[in-house]
Amino acid sequence: WVLMATGRSPTNIAVIKYWGKRDEALILPVNDSISVTLDPDHLSATTTVAVSPSFPADRMWLNGKEISLSGGRFQSCLREIRKRARDFEDEKKGIKIKKEDWEKLHVHIASYNNFPTAAGLASSAAGFACLVFTLGKLMNVKEDYGELSSIARQGSGSACRSIYGGFVKWCMGKKDDGSDSIAVQLADEAHWKDLVIIIAVVSSKQKETSSTSGMRDSVETSPLLQYRAQTVVPSRVLKMEEAIKNQDFESFAKLTCADSNQFHAVCLDTSPPIFYMNDTSHRIISLVEKWNHSEGCPQVAYTFDAGPNAVLIARDCKTAALLLQKLLYYFPPQDKDLSSYMVGDKSIL
Ligand code: DP6
Repeated sequence: WVLMATGRSPTNIAVIKYWGKRDEALILPVNDSISVTLDPDHLSATTTVAVSPSFPADRMWLNGKEISLSGGRFQSCLREIRKRARDFEDEKKGIKIKKEDWEKLHVHIASYNNFPTAAGLASSAAGFACLVFTLGKLMNVKEDYGELSSIARQGSGSACRSIYGGFVKWCMGKKDDGSDSIAVQLADEAHWKDLVIIIAVVSSKQKETSSTSGMRDSVETSPLLQYRAQTVVPSRVLKMEEAIKNQDFESFAKLTCADSNQFHAVCLDTSPPIFYMNDTSHRIISLVEKWNHSEGCPQVAYTFDAGPNAVLIARDCKTAALLLQKLLYYFPPQDKDLSSYMVGDKSIL
């Protein structure tokens, strides 16, 4: 027999960034972070997991290609889910699995992204969140989402936020064992439906410095990182929570842009410096800044992760249409620097 489960998880975009770990093995961050989960129809991972007594080993395929499972992060997620597995019975199929038997059963995992991996947007966030969620479903795990988020965190930090839709906060926690480093939902998918996300794909190249090694270097060498984590982020997180609750776009946009810029300043403050943004990214920032300034209040927020692609959040549909027009004018599609736009749903969530 073969037992299967399928799940889908969207990726998330941080508006207050996670950058730096206080514990590398458990993936515990140096500060809280806040994100928006995208609509699963746009950027998401779909994963099917199967168990069978006839599988001799754990195996995984990503977008149809087999990948190695030797990495500690995958093993951590699998181990944590197996620990919480429960008795399972399907009388019709005659399948009965005792809690302790899950340890002996191997899994096969097939995961697909609904966006081109070549777009440089492939994020581990959707992948690990989906893996943990689907394994949990298969192994009859009954733990709440907070607990699942702390397992997904051990796959990739940002993955813990993709367990929920809407607006999500990853609380850094204080405990050494990481049990209080979990994600919580600040507001669900139905909240603040006006916002529209547009992702401008600036480069399809894979990033040169991974988030994992980039943030390790920043922790070791950037004095600004310590200041940011201890002094800046705590008050910014409180203000961002307020802005989200009150749907205060002015405050939301200012905080989002400032936090993205400070994250990239930390990257520049790292030795050797890390350059994630390129000239096109900088030109997009100028365009948005000038527009926001000329309107007297923000119309669009920008944020950049560990790469040059711009995530633009427009205050409403009309503004998003105007933004798209501006982008197409200043960065026409034949411009080899800016190859495509991925336009979010009317709602970002
Ligand atoms: C810039 O979650 O990819 O996107 O925990 O080492 O897997 P690891 O890093 P990852 O880092 C994401 C960094 C970021 C900011 C964010 O998403 O908060």
